[in-house]
Amino acid sequence: MQQVNLGMIGGGTVGSGVFHALQRNGHLLASRLGLQVKMRKVAVKAFDEPRPYPIPHSCLTTDWTGVVNDPEVQIVLELAGGTTVARTMVLAALKLGKPVITANKALLSAHGEELFAAARQYQTNLYYEASVAGGIPIIKALREGFVGNEITQLYGIVNGTCNYILTRMKLEGAEFADVLKEAQSLGYAEAEPSLDIDGYDSVHKIGILASLAHGFWVKPDQIYVEGIRAITRADIQFADQFGYTVKLLGIIKKVALSPETGPITTNGSRIQVSVYPTLISKTHVLASVNHVYNAVFVRGDVVGDTLFYGRGAGKDATASAVLSDIADAGLDLKFGTRCRVPPFVHHESNGSVLPIDETITRYYVRLTVVDRPGVLAKISTIFGEANISISSVIQPEGHEGASVPLILMTHEAPNAAMTRALARINLLEVNKGSPVMIRVEHF
Ligand code: NDP
Ligand code: HSE
Repeated sequence: MQQVNLGMIGGGTVGSGVFHALQRNGHLLASRLGLQVKMRKVAVKAFDEPRPYPIPHSCLTTDWTGVVNDPEVQIVLELAGGTTVARTMVLAALKLGKPVITANKALLSAHGEELFAAARQYQTNLYYEASVAGGIPIIKALREGFVGNEITQLYGIVNGTCNYILTRMKLEGAEFADVLKEAQSLGYAEAEPSLDIDGYDSVHKIGILASLAHGFWVKPDQIYVEGIRAITRADIQFADQFGYTVKLLGIIKKVALSPETGPITTNGSRIQVSVYPTLISKTHVLASVNHVYNAVFVRGDVVGDTLFYGRGAGKDATASAVLSDIADAGLDLKFGTRCRVPPFVHHESNGSVLPIDETITRYYVRLTVVDRPGVLAKISTIFGEANISISSVIQPEGHEGASVPLILMTHEAPNAAMTRALARINLLEVNKGSPVMIRVEHF
C-alpha cells in the first residue's frame, strides 16, 4: 500500500488530538483511502511539556524547520497557532511545493489572500477544514457540497465560549460577569477572553466562510463586530417575553439590489458580513443550540435550508476535521491531482461588503426612562421621524416618577436610522440610562 508521510508543527490540544486520532483510526484511513498515513515528526516548543495525549519523545523535535525541510515529509500540518511564525512556517512549506493543513483561523483571517496565492504559485494546496467550527465539515460543504449553489444566507453560532455564556445566562438567569468568571475557572474561557467574547474569533471564522461563499476575499476590518459583554440578564429575560432568545451570530447575507432595499450603485454582489448578538425566534432550530456547541445554518438557492451542528473546538472534534484534510491531501498526492479543489477561488471581481449603516433589520430596544405622562409619546415621535415603525412595547409597572425599563420591538429599518434615533433619545431629559439595542433576525 502507498504511504504518505506527515510532519506536524504543534503538539498541543489539536496536535496531540491528531496524533491520538491517527493512532486510533489510521487503519480506517488506510482501508478507505488505500493509503498508509505515517506521522514522521512533530515539532513542539518545549520537549518535556505535558500533552493532552502523549506523543513519544522519539517523534518530537524542537526544530520546526527540520520538519518542513525533511525530504521524507510530504504534507505539513501547522497546528502551532499565532499569526507571525505560523505565517513563516506555512509559506516555507508551500514554497517547497508541500501541501499544508492548518487549523489557524487567525492566520487565515490576517494572511489568507497571501497564503492562497502562494499555494497557487507553488502549485500545491492549503487545507483548512479545522479553522471554522471545529469538527463540523462546513468548509467542505461550502467548497464541494454546495458548489452548485448561490449562498444567499448563512447564520453561524461559531464561538463555543460565547454560546456557553449566553446559554447559562438564559437557563440560570445569571449575569454575564458571573458566568464568565466561572467559565474561566472551568477552563472553558481563556484568562484573557477578549478574542472570544468581543467577537473577534467569530470574525475570523465568518470572514473565511464569507470569502468562500461569495468568491472575493473579505478582510476582518470590513466585518462589523459587537461582542456579548453588554448583554444583560434583563435583556435575555425581556427577549424571552417577546418569544426570542439571544445568540451571538456570524451573519452573511446576500443583499438584494432594488430601489426598496438599497442603492443600485454597483454591479457586483453586495454582502452583509457581520458578527453581533442577535434575537432569534425561540422556535428556530438555532435557538436550541446550547452550551459549547456550534451550528451553521446555510441557505442555498438550489438546496434550500441546511443545518450543520457539532462541537466547534476541543482536541478530538478538531482532530476529526484535520483527519479529513489529511485524507484529501493524501489522495491528491496519490493521484497527482494537487489542486483538485483549490483552497479559495476569487470569482467575484465586483463583490463588496455592505457598510453596517446600510444593513436593514428589526430591532429590540431597551430604554430606561422616567415613568410620567408624555414620555412614550416623545419616544414614538422620534422613531416616527426616523421612519421606524414600532411593532410592540412592554413597560413593567413601576411607581409614577421612578425610572423604569421601556422595551420596544420595531419593524425593519436601516441601521443608520436606528443609530440616529437612539442618539436623539439619549439626549432627552427623561432618558436615564444608555439605550440598549439588539438586532433581530428572522430566517
Ligand atoms: P496549543 O497552545 O495547545 O498548542 C500549540 C502547539 O504548538 C504546542 O504544542 C506548542 O509547543 C507548539 N508550538 C508553538 N510555537 C511553536 C514553535 N515556534 N515551534 C514548534 N512548536 C511550536 O494550541 P491549540 O492546539 O489549541 O491550537 C492550535 C491551532 O488550532 C490554533 O491556530 C488554534 O486557533 C486552532 N484551533 C484550536 C482549537 C481548539 O479547540 N484548541 C479548535 C480549532 C482550531 P509546546 O507544547 O511545547 O508549548
Ligand atoms: N475559542 C473558540 C470557541 C474555539 O470558544 O469556540 C477555537 O476556535
